[in-house]
Amino acid sequence: MIFPVILAGGKGERFWPQSREKRPKQFLNLIGEESLLQLTVKRLSNLVPFTNTFIVTGQNYVGLVQEQLPQLPVANIIVEPMGKNTAACTGLAAVYLERINPEGVMVVLPSDHLVGDSKEFLQVVKAGIALAQEGDFLITMGITPSHPETGYGYINYGEEYGIYESYPAFSVRRFVEKPDLQTAKEYLESGEFLWNSGMFIWKVSTILKKIEKYMPDLFQAVQTIKNSIGTRHEKEVLFREYCRLESISLDYGIMELSDHVFVFPGNFGWDDIGSWTSLSRIKETDDKGNVFGGNVVEYGAQNCIVESSEKLIGVIGAENLIIVESDDAFLVCSKEHAQDIKGLLQKLKQEK
Ligand code: GDD
Ligand code: MG
Repeated sequence: MIFPVILAGGKGERFWPQSREKRPKQFLNLIGEESLLQLTVKRLSNLVPFTNTFIVTGQNYVGLVQEQLPQLPVANIIVEPMGKNTAACTGLAAVYLERINPEGVMVVLPSDHLVGDSKEFLQVVKAGIALAQEGDFLITMGITPSHPETGYGYINYGEEYGIYESYPAFSVRRFVEKPDLQTAKEYLESGEFLWNSGMFIWKVSTILKKIEKYMPDLFQAVQTIKNSIGTRHEKEVLFREYCRLESISLDYGIMELSDHVFVFPGNFGWDDIGSWTSLSRIKETDDKGNVFGGNVVEYGAQNCIVESSEKLIGVIGAENLIIVESDDAFLVCSKEHAQDIKGLLQKLKQEK
């Protein structure tokens, strides 16, 4: 039994101001007519029936998930009372799925990526599933790095372990989440590293064993939550246990520490769409390198990214700027500083 588990509770801060607490980036139509979440679910529809797909998300986003995925059974939305990062939401999903089939395979997918070649992607996922069924293995998909990105995890891969559905799996020597720039440069030069795509494949029982070993507090919490499922205390227990949880990602909490990790290099046009500047890679640019969305008129603009939601934006003689309008906020940012939006939001929170 295969269970796609889509993580859809992140904040997507670097797409401010269109990505807001009320509607984070996975719910936005950044590319075309469908949201990143809708595209993620659609990508899997040839692999498993819709009824096996689960979405883990925050309480505040349940309405958006239902609106964007009306075909999804309501019971397949696993609701968190608050965001506690990816280890917690995966542990929570695992105890729900354990009740259905502990030997089922979870295909854990972020909801904020683009995949250019869905067919190839599904082939690699199938290979991962074949390996996951063989033992207590943690499987990830690796992307050949093109630059020393510090926003990704890196996978130092070793010897070939075997061929699954015609795809080679490599053993992972070391997994390093988000290194600093100097380290990322060394990794890139060595040719021995892949980017972690943030997609994971493992049996429900395997990830629970790993959580028990490496994150015993989380294990305890999700066991308590599991025992309350179906009782009248379910919501209360979930809230209480979640309040106590540490906010830590799967990458830091499990992947960096675990053995028996394997990677399938994937060549399926992966893009993380991490910040506004990624739109110049993904969307069509005009002959002066501009990307415009919505209602925009330009006069001598170059290499700009301009997105309007409602208002008409006029851009004259600007270069390398990101200009984004949403219903209650406006962003003007030089392209080199696109990553600093997190800093700006931090400042906004402090000033509140
Ligand atoms: N339900 C839920 N609850 N989902 C969450 C939460 C949470 O508390 N926090 C994050 N998510 C979701 C996000 O919506 C996203 O789809 C996914 O989990 C990954 O979280 P990100 O916050 O986007 O992680 P990241 O991009 O910094 O890093 C991960 O992805 C990189 C590739 O894009 C890591 O796995 C890196 O190693 C990897 O390189
Ligand atoms: Mg991400």
